[in-house]
Amino acid sequence: MQQQDRPFLEVSDVRVWFPIRKGVLNRVVAHVRAVDGVSFTLRQGETLGLVGESGCGKTTLGRAILGLEPVRSGHVLFDGEDFTALPERRRRHLRRRCQMVFQDPQASLNPRLTVLELLTEGLRYHRLLHGETPEQAAGRLLADVGMDTDALYRYPHEFSGGQRQRLSIARALSLKPQLLVCDEPVSALDVSVQAQVINLLLDLRDKYHLSYIFISHDLSVVRIISQQVAVMYLGHMVEMGPVEAVMESPRHPYTQALLSAVPVPGRPAGQRIILKGEMPSPAAPPPGCPFHPRCPHATEACAHGDVPPLRSLPDQPGHLVACRLLN
Ligand SMILES: Nc1ncnc2c1ncn2[C@@H]1O[C@H](COP(=O)(O)OP(=O)(O)O)[C@@H](O)[C@H]1O
Ligand SMILES: [Mg+2]
Repeated sequence: MQQQDRPFLEVSDVRVWFPIRKGVLNRVVAHVRAVDGVSFTLRQGETLGLVGESGCGKTTLGRAILGLEPVRSGHVLFDGEDFTALPERRRRHLRRRCQMVFQDPQASLNPRLTVLELLTEGLRYHRLLHGETPEQAAGRLLADVGMDTDALYRYPHEFSGGQRQRLSIARALSLKPQLLVCDEPVSALDVSVQAQVINLLLDLRDKYHLSYIFISHDLSVVRIISQQVAVMYLGHMVEMGPVEAVMESPRHPYTQALLSAVPVPGRPAGQRIILKGEMPSPAAPPPGCPFHPRCPHATEACAHGDVPPLRSLPDQPGHLVACRLLN
């Protein structure tokens, strides 16, 4: 039981900065602060929906958790183990437990490999066939994503967008991961196909007790699949909590604006809040609260001091908001 209660994934104060280089000496003159101090935890079998405007750092955060981007500071712990601090062999083993599903399956599946090769490449590399033939293993994975074995000797381009996304999910599952980072996995698909892929992800989560980090700009999809939701703005988390609490009674002015643009079941339709200006560049973030230049409620004090930390609302434990104006 104790194992179950401890978060399976712990992300603490993670920063990912990309250097900007200039001049003949190629010197670092500034940094793009794509992810700038993000913390959260995730339990086995649970889904965290990650939302926020394009460029706020969602993909970079997902990649950093999987060890695909160098973390400038902070820690990512799986089952209490910090994998940035592990020797390479052990790190490879841990990394296997976390896989990514991308928005564009066309780009993430090697076009020169057959489905059989695509689905068993990782199994061969990690020596995980355990007595199964490659055909048996690939057939089992295809069945998991609702496809027939007649797909085995075909190439990715011969399939529709929805089927290709099923193949990339099968490929991600091949190494028996515990965590899938799904980065806009249905955004490129037709609406009718989106629901099928979402249902597949829900079924697989139950069957294999998977955890998901589900990145999407479609809040209605996030609502269906997530238990927890986190709202990102300019490399920071501004609001986080149970999906009903955040979506039905958003407290951060940014979340309120984001949600005012879409109808959410359970929340009365209100006035659409139009934010002034655009998200500033993460290479030159504003001082104080990162949202203050666009915030309809900002006061003089919001433009100074440290970035406001995420704090639990007194009336709603577990619902966290990073705003000085809320108590
Ligand atoms: N490899 C990179 N080098 C430099 N800047 C990057 C790189 N990847 C992402 N960025 C920048 O980091 C910020 C966050 O990007 P990203 O994580 O892709 O946001 P999102 O997925 O929320 O749209 C953006 O300003 C983007 O331009
Ligand atoms: Mg992205």
